[in-house]
Amino acid sequence: MVPLFFTLFLGVFSKRLTRLNNDEPLEIGPNYKTLWFTEQLDHINRDPGTINIRVLFSQGSPTAPLFVYTGNEGPITQFYQMTGWLVGTLGPQYNASVAFIEHRYYGESIPSPFSWKYLSTDQVLWDFADIIQQLKPSNSTPVIVFGGSYGGMLAAYFRVKYPQFVDGAIASSAPVLMPQDVNGTSYARISTNDYFNVERDCEGNIHNGFLILDNFIDRPLTYTALENIFNPCQSIQEQGDVLALEDFITGAFQDMSQLDYPYPANVGGLLPGFPVNVSCSIMSQFSQNENMWQALMGFAQINNLVYNWTGNLTCFDIYGGEGSGLDPWTYQTCTELIFPLGQYGLPNDMYPVRPWNYQQWAKMCQGLFGVQPRPDWAPINYGMGTFDVNVTLASASNIVFSYGTLDPWGGGCIQEPINDQTTVIGIKGGAHHLDLRTPNPRDPQSVIYARSREVAMINQWIGQAMEKFARY
Ligand SMILES: *[C@@H]1O[C@H](CO)[C@@H](O)[C@H](O)[C@H]1NC(C)=O
Ligand SMILES: *[C@@H]1O[C@H](CO)[C@@H](O)[C@H](O)[C@H]1NC(C)=O
Ligand SMILES: *[C@@H]1O[C@H](CO)[C@@H](O)[C@H](O)[C@H]1NC(C)=O
Ligand SMILES: *[C@@H]1O[C@H](CO)[C@@H](O)[C@H](O)[C@H]1NC(C)=O
Ligand SMILES: *[C@@H]1O[C@H](CO)[C@@H](O)[C@H](O)[C@H]1NC(C)=O
Ligand SMILES: *[C@@H]1O[C@H](CO)[C@@H](O)[C@H](O)[C@H]1NC(C)=O
Repeated sequence: MVPLFFTLFLGVFSKRLTRLNNDEPLEIGPNYKTLWFTEQLDHINRDPGTINIRVLFSQGSPTAPLFVYTGNEGPITQFYQMTGWLVGTLGPQYNASVAFIEHRYYGESIPSPFSWKYLSTDQVLWDFADIIQQLKPSNSTPVIVFGGSYGGMLAAYFRVKYPQFVDGAIASSAPVLMPQDVNGTSYARISTNDYFNVERDCEGNIHNGFLILDNFIDRPLTYTALENIFNPCQSIQEQGDVLALEDFITGAFQDMSQLDYPYPANVGGLLPGFPVNVSCSIMSQFSQNENMWQALMGFAQINNLVYNWTGNLTCFDIYGGEGSGLDPWTYQTCTELIFPLGQYGLPNDMYPVRPWNYQQWAKMCQGLFGVQPRPDWAPINYGMGTFDVNVTLASASNIVFSYGTLDPWGGGCIQEPINDQTTVIGIKGGAHHLDLRTPNPRDPQSVIYARSREVAMINQWIGQAMEKFARY
């Protein structure tokens, strides 16, 4: 059985920026071809070896711009699917060439023989730079990069590091300032606010359910009842199993706040429109007569809504999302990308208490990969992290930083203006990178406005690029 402290750790793994393992068939448009680019495995020290990087590419007019999605932590097909605004609207509108570049170590862009050594954002940005040079129809083609979430961080990093290769960047829901939140309180707090704002009692109902489970942790006589209510694939035999169950339920609520779109959406699982509102109604139904078993049955309904969307699960794999930790995303969060994520209970949040502990995290990284996190790496390399971005990004230009007010990652996003050359856009009632998704009749006015400002900036950047070229 898994030791207790290890279980506590692993709960954090389920909190990825993007839900993975999308089971839906991915329809890639017929105008997109799959291209492969052979890149140096090690652009920096020139260790021998190459890596093949997958690109989805749609050829546009030779005189039109090149739009590039800077791929993040998953198969590039997934980000193609979540970036419908670029695929279906912007690309065709500008008659642009559009490329979705896969991030090395994800999807089908895996090095062989395998070693973790060449997984770093510097190597990734160099892949992007090199591939963009080859894809440009001509020297004068304006290039705009787009990214959501970690992909948005890469889009912003790319403009900062390679301004000569890219005329502007749309960085949507990019939590570049996450390390400033040293105790990692913001994610759980914003998620909790999403539930509170739908209905005052909703937060209380959910918190109450977690208190009941907390109470059962050291009461083994309740374990059989828990099994009957929650139908876990593993039997509940010890404290760690109850904690894992709590983390599983927490994951469902947190996923829904990240994906609280106003219409049904499928991001690694089909959710109804406004899933936070839907789950508040469920919790309210099951909380009416203040019966603790009823409250837990509300949680079971939530699990069913989020995890059993196919309707064919025979049990719930409460340890399933956790894996061994030996995956590329954990490696990245163990080296360059520090995301403090903690839960503290009331008044910070409604979730079971799981404080962020940097020392424990670093110890785990040492154990898993033999590496130490470098919290100063992103701040120094990209000027984004713990420093005041007004100072470190004083000369940055042509970047839009957008964030949604519902998005738990929003706490790590740039929310205040930096300078006149960059733009910060808050999207009221927007979840995680809503602006990049396919426009929908149920979109709030705020995202329609955000997209129109982004288009205005893109036009300005394209104008600047053409002017610059005309001068030579
Ligand atoms: C877009 O570009 C293609 C390829 O050059 C060209 O055939 C087509 O006419 C262009 N469409 C528009 C609307 O400019
Ligand atoms: C983080 O938590 C520690 C321990 O509870 C506390 O002393 C410190 O003030 C907190 N830091 C911030 C910035 O909230
Ligand atoms: C869901 O709750 C939000 C408040 O966060 C509210 O603005 C929205 O109208 C609600 N949607 C529905 C369909 O009830
Ligand atoms: C999943 O949903 C189906 C259809 O509603 C239901 O029959 C089944 O019992 C659910 N699975 C679990 C583990 O609850
Ligand atoms: C459940 O349904 C999904 C989607 O239809 C399918 O991919 C999956 O294999 C099914 N799982 C089981 C256990 O039958
Ligand atoms: C950063 O600079 C912008 C633009 O000059 C200014 O509006 C903002 O107040 C500054 N923020 C901080 C924290 O100094």
